[in-house]
Amino acid sequence: MQIPFGQPSLGAREARALMRALRNGRVVGNGVLSLKAQAHLRELTGARHALLTPNATQAFELFLHTGAGAAGGFLGPGDEVILPSFSYVSMANAIAARGATPVFVEIERETLGLDPVAVASAITERTKLVLTVHYGGMACDLDGLLAVCGERGVPIFEDAAQAIGSTLRGQHLGTFGAGACLSFHATKNVTCGEGGALLLDDEGAMRMAEIAHEKGTNRSAFLRGEIDKYTWVGTGGSYVLSDLLAGMLDVQLERTAELNARRLEIWDLYQAGTQWLEDAGSVFRCVPRTGCDHNGHIWWMVAQDQALADRIIDGLRGEGIQATFHYQALHASPFARQHLGTDGLDLPLTTQVSDCIVRLPLSSSMNRKKAETVMRALKKVV
Ligand SMILES: Cc1ncc(COP(=O)(O)O)c(C=O)c1O
Repeated sequence: MQIPFGQPSLGAREARALMRALRNGRVVGNGVLSLKAQAHLRELTGARHALLTPNATQAFELFLHTGAGAAGGFLGPGDEVILPSFSYVSMANAIAARGATPVFVEIERETLGLDPVAVASAITERTKLVLTVHYGGMACDLDGLLAVCGERGVPIFEDAAQAIGSTLRGQHLGTFGAGACLSFHATKNVTCGEGGALLLDDEGAMRMAEIAHEKGTNRSAFLRGEIDKYTWVGTGGSYVLSDLLAGMLDVQLERTAELNARRLEIWDLYQAGTQWLEDAGSVFRCVPRTGCDHNGHIWWMVAQDQALADRIIDGLRGEGIQATFHYQALHASPFARQHLGTDGLDLPLTTQVSDCIVRLPLSSSMNRKKAETVMRALKKVV
């Protein structure tokens, strides 16, 4: 049996949504289907504002146009943004592209999210933003980060790309900081192939984001009938998602609880089925934060050394099971070493996680039977 790492669950409802959008011929962005999906997203997350974007990467770039990403201004040369080195390249790239400096710090072992103690010692008067990741849809130490950043007056941006449907004490991840991004890439729990969203709370930031969303124009106000013509009023980009995809996304958003429940069933099965590996001291695994209801986006374990991680990944592949590694530490990347001077930076946990993490197949298209096959194969290859 071949078990792929992941496969989105797309069916007749998504196909009908696409056909509906095609038939009504309104496939550009910011049309009725986008407005509907945005309303749906606000309802689901409790965020005051939501703007659909072509991906999470651009949602963060859009956020940087609002000025909310830098205490009292826009991000630029001389500014620093603290973020985990164990994270996706998009955010670090957007910071560097603005001439600001990504400052990479250590993660915590339990969730692989940003470590507030490391953040506290990295904050300087140049720190304009702290960017945290809810890895695998699991809440990072938000209380710790909010305390540290609140004290120093530094805004937090939550990379909630993987966190649709995840909550901490009932509050949706992505609604704790100054802004957040969500991803609807095909690998995510809820998908429209490629897609994303920016969540915001502040009215002023939302007004700027609306302008930046539409290439620096007041087209959104025009579409609402508030003005006769639209024109250039700020800086921005082309950050709008097609209504074709927004219609499909709306259907997937309706299915959030179902899609997350399917992942969680597999996540729980893996967690129970690998206890023996942790008891033997061979791996460490996620310890979900108290009060966090997560969405089962990723199931991971970190092997005691790279040889074991490779043996597991290669061995499972030999059994037709696509297990895989994840992010390569950003501070050790060629770009960071060459342009950000990170050569001497020592982040031991990040390095171990980057070298030794193993993710097992997990998606809403999987079933218990396949997950049990994975557990049996794991016993065989370790
Ligand atoms: C934590 C995290 N942030 C951001 C992204 C980028 O998402 P997108 O592909 O929607 O830009 C990813 C992609 O996997 C991710 O895992």
